[in-house]
Amino acid sequence: MHYGGDYNPEQWDESVWPEDMRRMREAGVTRVRVGVFAWARIQPEEGVFDWAWLDRVLDLLHENGIQASLATATATPPPWATTNYPEMLPQDDLGSTLWHGSRQAYAPSSPVYRRLASELVTALVERYAQHPAVGMWVANNEYGCHLNYDYSDNAAVAFREWLKKKYGTLDALNEAWGTMFWSQRYTSFDQIVPMRRAPYSLNPGGLLDFKRFTSDTLLELFVMERDIIKSAGASQPVTTNFMGFFPPADYWKWAPELDVICDDNYADPNDPESFRGAAFTRDLMRSLKKDVPWVLLEQAPNDVNWRPTNAPKAPGQMAALSMQAVARGADEINFFQWRQSRRGSERFHSGMLPHAGTNTRTWREITALGETLKNLPGLGTSASGARIAIAFDWEARWALDAPDHPGEIDYGVLIPRWHAALHRQQLLVDLVHPAEDLSDYDLVIAPHLYLLSDESAENLSGFVRAGGNLLVAAFSDVVDDTDSFREGGFQVALRDVLGVAVEEFGALVPPEAAIGGTSAGDTTGSASASRGPGEAHADVDGPFGAARGEFFAERLQVLDPSVEILGRFSSGRLAGEPALTANRAGEGRAWYLATIPDDDGMRRVTGWAAAEAGIAPVLEVPNDMVEVSCRGDVLTIINYGSEPARFAVTGTEVSSGERVSSVDLDQYDWIMLDQAR
Ligand code: GLA
Repeated sequence: MHYGGDYNPEQWDESVWPEDMRRMREAGVTRVRVGVFAWARIQPEEGVFDWAWLDRVLDLLHENGIQASLATATATPPPWATTNYPEMLPQDDLGSTLWHGSRQAYAPSSPVYRRLASELVTALVERYAQHPAVGMWVANNEYGCHLNYDYSDNAAVAFREWLKKKYGTLDALNEAWGTMFWSQRYTSFDQIVPMRRAPYSLNPGGLLDFKRFTSDTLLELFVMERDIIKSAGASQPVTTNFMGFFPPADYWKWAPELDVICDDNYADPNDPESFRGAAFTRDLMRSLKKDVPWVLLEQAPNDVNWRPTNAPKAPGQMAALSMQAVARGADEINFFQWRQSRRGSERFHSGMLPHAGTNTRTWREITALGETLKNLPGLGTSASGARIAIAFDWEARWALDAPDHPGEIDYGVLIPRWHAALHRQQLLVDLVHPAEDLSDYDLVIAPHLYLLSDESAENLSGFVRAGGNLLVAAFSDVVDDTDSFREGGFQVALRDVLGVAVEEFGALVPPEAAIGGTSAGDTTGSASASRGPGEAHADVDGPFGAARGEFFAERLQVLDPSVEILGRFSSGRLAGEPALTANRAGEGRAWYLATIPDDDGMRRVTGWAAAEAGIAPVLEVPNDMVEVSCRGDVLTIINYGSEPARFAVTGTEVSSGERVSSVDLDQYDWIMLDQAR
């Protein structure tokens, strides 16, 4: 179990470094990331490298028994680079240049940027591949973070090449994008621009490909650096840091290229529910590389500086969130950054060693956590033992995020909400790509899988036929992977297993709008007043009781008399129509829910489906602010709520070896119990 943070010693006079080492040892630090923003310090001008300071830093770390995760520093080209080569600067969607003076000022497709970055990484790895302090390589930093999309001329050239490779011919591209409509037909690849802002909606197929291209381009940068590092003979793992359910990068596609998954997570201390979102991203990181423990590369020791209100973490909250990561598969806990900056943009961001010194709550909590992690036995596997999986696809998110649908739904919010529904009930869950092997699971939930490739549809159907339980929820299987309807109406690819098809989507006014009384016809704010066109919700009566449906109330066509109607809409324009259907296909069952439930509805629906699939909560706990996770045989219980949680549970406390038959947890208290000992 490693413990540490970002060490950026170039900000400080060298006389401070020995104190850093002493304090790091005191805090139990075992590994730090070095050099993440040090390009300008390492290479003061083109062709000139200054290694002496970095040699001393790495030697010092080694002498103190601390490893370095050596960063490649390529996320921050220095001003000399962008001044000498302004063509490497990125542009926004109106073609305006984004200048240096902050960080990440480069166009990912720029050949000059790639050359300069390659030269830097080559020089770094040649110098340090064999350095005994180096335990890991971290390429760049949070690829795509500040610059989600680049629309520069470099992007235009690269996008055209990417499209040529994908489609071969312009005819194929024109067909896939449906360019015969609105006179968009291209007669040369050179006419294609990287989806810059236009007077009105951009072509959906083009937008989707531009997002694929962007994710692929960023991934190409990682692979470029990784290959340089590996081919120089470095034997350490090579990685980069992800950002949870980050929209622009398809981490399903990225994960196989990394030796180990790293994530950065900044749960908002002000939001009492933010531990739930953190649980989702931690489950995602574990799921991206199952059975390989992952690394929490960044979190805040206390407050951040970039929200409108930056509350400090409550006492114990930092440790609770750190242990949540360990419980969900992490073998390394780090922070941004070691010593709080005195100058620059992040001077108000907390550090492990605060500007106010060591007589501080932050320092005491940091050293206490170091001690805790040191005393933790190896946990081995990261496997959760979950029998439930939520299937989601970045491509579906990209397609849904484009305009011009019957309603606006935010997949980036809804997928974590489905996860939260299970999390509230202590039902363990993994995340999966819909085309991956599902044989470990008894229940797969596929919510709002709007874009569904043939491969994913076959995989999900095969899962059902082989005996699985599949729950598909509204606005799924709507389009193919070009964002076009398949022939034969809506919802074609899963039709055989679901036994139903959608006749109309029946958009409902989104809940936020309805709350403000803006839904057409709703002047009283009462539920019934919103009936008729523009209605806000459609209640459902089902085996899970009553649930409120939002966003869509789809009119279904039941295609086979053997399809069971388990639930019906009980209000709204579809009152009496099927809302939940069940179909048997092969050895398994497929349910279709024709709306998107609210939080309580999601809890009921998922709880019911889990019970149908024979899956029980991992532990009965007093309330849903108490979280239970499994890592192999180790159960971790954390109480995030203000109510103390006292209840019976047996196991052996992992660090002390004490047998336990009940727990008593105040807010942010946690306990790890080995259930096999
Ligand atoms: C990101 C960056 C870090 C730092 C933190 C601040 O995660 O990678 O360098 O700026 O945000 O919260």
